Amino acid sequence: MDLAFKPVDNAILTEYFTNIFRHGYIQVKGITLPKRFLDFHDVIKNFTVYDDDLWICSFPKSGTTWTQEMIWMIANDLNFEEGKKCMGDRFPFLDYEFLFDYTRVRDKIEAFDPPVYFEHSVNFIQNLRRPRLIKTHLPWFLLPEQIQSGEKRPKIIHIARNPRDVCLSYFHHCKLFEGYTSHLDHFTQLFLTGNVSYAPYWTNVLSYWEKKSELNFLFLKFEELKSDLAGAIRRVATFLCKQLTDNEVSRLAAHLSFENMKTNKGTNYASLIDLHRRHNLVCEEGTFIRTGETGSYKLRYPQELSTQFDEWVKSGDVDHKMGY
Ligand code: A3P
Repeated sequence: MDLAFKPVDNAILTEYFTNIFRHGYIQVKGITLPKRFLDFHDVIKNFTVYDDDLWICSFPKSGTTWTQEMIWMIANDLNFEEGKKCMGDRFPFLDYEFLFDYTRVRDKIEAFDPPVYFEHSVNFIQNLRRPRLIKTHLPWFLLPEQIQSGEKRPKIIHIARNPRDVCLSYFHHCKLFEGYTSHLDHFTQLFLTGNVSYAPYWTNVLSYWEKKSELNFLFLKFEELKSDLAGAIRRVATFLCKQLTDNEVSRLAAHLSFENMKTNKGTNYASLIDLHRRHNLVCEEGTFIRTGETGSYKLRYPQELSTQFDEWVKSGDVDHKMGY
């Protein structure tokens, strides 16, 4: 594996996916990331981990927030009242600080005031009260050294999703949230060539798939949550060593329904989308929790793109492993 940092020189990225809070991209160990990661590589490598942490690690748009809400509720004995707080506060996102570099925004807009759990996410998480719940989209080989070496063995949950649905969802997300300004076709080309943040998809996801039989690991799939949410709740509860009655499982399943998550201010990141909109950082309309479907890519990809995607999935001999 290539250990060097490499600048990413891609015309689509440069023209349509750089902006006031995204200044360019690099590759680290083969993974595309915003340039700002360079300032955080060592910090994350040396990040102090505890055995009682719980990490959710996933490729973006794989159902991370859905799973986070499930984990948080189980870990906090279905405390629906406390659960009204923003997910970013309850179950913070380690990477926020290097995905969104607000330095220039702050220089320009005095009133710009994102919550500390976004703007200084790494430090915020480092000082969280234990047991900590932590979200990241980094692959296994960019996690803190203490995890990779096995010195610390926090629980790790990975959620994967069909990459065709991921790509479509990521396209909308990047327009809504990260300032991407071109069309789906361009975005798909970026995705298939490993030129969006956290890609190549397979390299990232397979780095967790390979660990899935370890005792501190749980590997979930978006499609399983869709087809049997109650079953997924039970699996997660068992993994967290928590007991839930049938009634609690039903109440939690209702709480985790698409309709409920979409209107729940604790999970729909509406305040953050609004922050970007209010300051004209991103002007796209939409919602974080969008359609929550599996297979809707079939309606959106023209045949040619679909075929290209199928060939990409087949190449690399990985389709049989993940069932996608
Ligand atoms: P879509 O954009 O396809 O709708 P992540 O949290 O990893 O960013 O993933 C976001 C995706 O999960 C979005 O997919 C979102 O709608 C979907 N999602 C979130 N909560 C859901 C739920 N309760 N049921 C189904 N899908 C959900």
